[in-house]
Amino acid sequence: MSVALLIDGIGELTTNDDELGRVADAAVVVEGERIAWVGPASRAPAADERFDAAGRAALPGWVDSHVHPVFAGDRSAEFEARMAGQAYAAGGIATTVDATRAASDAELAATLDRLADEALAGGTTALEAKTGYGLTIDDEVRSARVARGRAEAVTFLGAHLVPEGWDADAYVEHVAGPMLDAVAPLVDAIDVFCERGAFDEAQSRRVLEAGAAKGLALRVHGNQLGPGPGVRLAVELGARSVDHVAFLDDEEVAALAGSWAAGIGTVATVLPACDLSTRMPLAPARRLLDAGAVVAIATNCNPGTSYTTSMAFCVATAVLQMGLTVEEAVRAATLGGAIALGRDGEDADGRPPLGRIRPGARADLQLLEAPSAAHLAYRPGVPLVGAVWRRGERVR
Ligand code: NIG
Repeated sequence: MSVALLIDGIGELTTNDDELGRVADAAVVVEGERIAWVGPASRAPAADERFDAAGRAALPGWVDSHVHPVFAGDRSAEFEARMAGQAYAAGGIATTVDATRAASDAELAATLDRLADEALAGGTTALEAKTGYGLTIDDEVRSARVARGRAEAVTFLGAHLVPEGWDADAYVEHVAGPMLDAVAPLVDAIDVFCERGAFDEAQSRRVLEAGAAKGLALRVHGNQLGPGPGVRLAVELGARSVDHVAFLDDEEVAALAGSWAAGIGTVATVLPACDLSTRMPLAPARRLLDAGAVVAIATNCNPGTSYTTSMAFCVATAVLQMGLTVEEAVRAATLGGAIALGRDGEDADGRPPLGRIRPGARADLQLLEAPSAAHLAYRPGVPLVGAVWRRGERVR
């Protein structure tokens, strides 16, 4: 039988639950891997064990829904050149592909473990992992194998870049055919970099439709470096998310918002650290929310465009630079990510929902060394995470 843990003395609890809202002087009871009870501390039931939060703020663990953690090598020189004025180009991906192909499985796993530990220490209790730096059947399969079990969700990104020596259309057929056949059993979703310099609309459609035919969820890298067809295509094909979305016209914003009319739609995932690190315009998260779109915030941790695991940094940037309120940014970085991963409800395998603190949800919580979540943006850059529970277990 599992032991019930009462966490009380929570000064401010962000639940992301429409009925519970934000609770002052709150308590949470955790039983096994799930939340069993949430409410005012004065009404908390008895439990086997107690943790006194001493007035600190608690919120759901971050759900980082866009991560490229299976790689080898370092691109700090490319970053420095960019900071000296050089533009980002998708071709930089090839540098990491070479290093990744040359690395052993153990090296790739060690890098992913290091990044996942770093993220966890910063309050991230669920992260996605994309393949996409292998780009051969064998290297994509081993990337997916390394990610499986280490990440909450694994996404196949064979269509990240056309590797050297390939004709683009022939490579697309290779990705949508034998590569997908080999990788599909190991992954939850398929993604494509739909951008000038990577894959065009027809090629992206081919890859996504092949993934959908295998039962995979769809994701799109779209409208990152300039206007393009990515957002339109993602909405049309019912993708779970379209990510980057830095360049959006009013129709695209309306399409993203309108996609939710039937209750399920395409999440617009903004990646503030990437926008900064590539010196691109910040994605219009305020406009998206005002129009009624569902927004997620993620790190896009990768060695090229965004080498950070810090969701707190992304949340602070969203508040300070993108015009979101603290509540909106925290919601986008927790529940928004869960929706983008299709994990905001109990899933078909009986896995508990992520992104909310309410009975039945997975007990993923972070406690800040601060009285309110506002401190995440009020004290930017300060490591505020004091304790983390994942699946009901204290992990930090
Ligand atoms: O999300 N946009 C495509 N993929 C990554 C960049 C990867 C790289 O440059 O290595 C991104 O930014």
